[in-house]
Amino acid sequence: MPNYATTRDRVETYFDRTATKAWERLTSDAPVSRIRQTVREGRDRMRALMLSRLPEDLRGARVLDAGCGTGMMTEELARRGATVVAADISPKLVQIAHDRLAPALRPQVSFHAGDMTDPALGEFDAVLAMDSLIYYNAEDIGRTLKALGSRSGQVVFTVAPRTTLLMAMWHAGKLFPRNDRSPVMIPHGLKDLTRATGPGLAKIDRVARGFYISDCMEYRP
Ligand SMILES: C[S@@+](CC[C@H](N)C(=O)[O-])C[C@H]1O[C@@H](n2cnc3c(N)ncnc32)[C@H](O)[C@@H]1O
Repeated sequence: MPNYATTRDRVETYFDRTATKAWERLTSDAPVSRIRQTVREGRDRMRALMLSRLPEDLRGARVLDAGCGTGMMTEELARRGATVVAADISPKLVQIAHDRLAPALRPQVSFHAGDMTDPALGEFDAVLAMDSLIYYNAEDIGRTLKALGSRSGQVVFTVAPRTTLLMAMWHAGKLFPRNDRSPVMIPHGLKDLTRATGPGLAKIDRVARGFYISDCMEYRP
């Protein structure tokens, strides 16, 4: 099973090269296939669910968007008044997130191309990691949560549950372009993650919309 560094390298190559265009399109208003439209809708629901774990008014709060991608969550957090650190291992996606952000929100957001667990990013009131830990094994997620949890009292993240439909779609490469070097999504449940992380984990809810099936979890160390 690949370790953290190997998975992260694969994720970087995937999002920075193989799937940059597909990801840029999915996270925009541009027309997409019916399958990807369900993914887009599911992701909109998940973003709202994750945000509902935080206070509506985030003025004065410092929030990490861990694995910010093209910055959809970053923008929402900044609109609510948060000071946002948006970090992603893919420099190209960070650049897209930077360019997409409404100019009025720019003073609230700092962008970083690099690892979400970098201690130099500082301390946070909350960390949101939407669909950015889905490629890691339970031990790596456990270590990541503990690292993030040592700098924040609340980590809201998603994992892919083990459902046959989701796994079949993923392996058939139907959702996104993939090749042999692409990172593989690893499904998890509360039990295996708790074994790897320790106490403080809770499942919040599942979002299932067409081909987007994902569980929202929260870690409070
Ligand atoms: C499926 S995308 C989700 C992007 C964004 N959170 C969203 O929901 O639109 C996963 C993102 O996590 C990033 N990522 C994965 N592992 C990371 C790590 N260790 N540090 C920083 N970013 C990471 C990837 O580069 C990718 O942009």
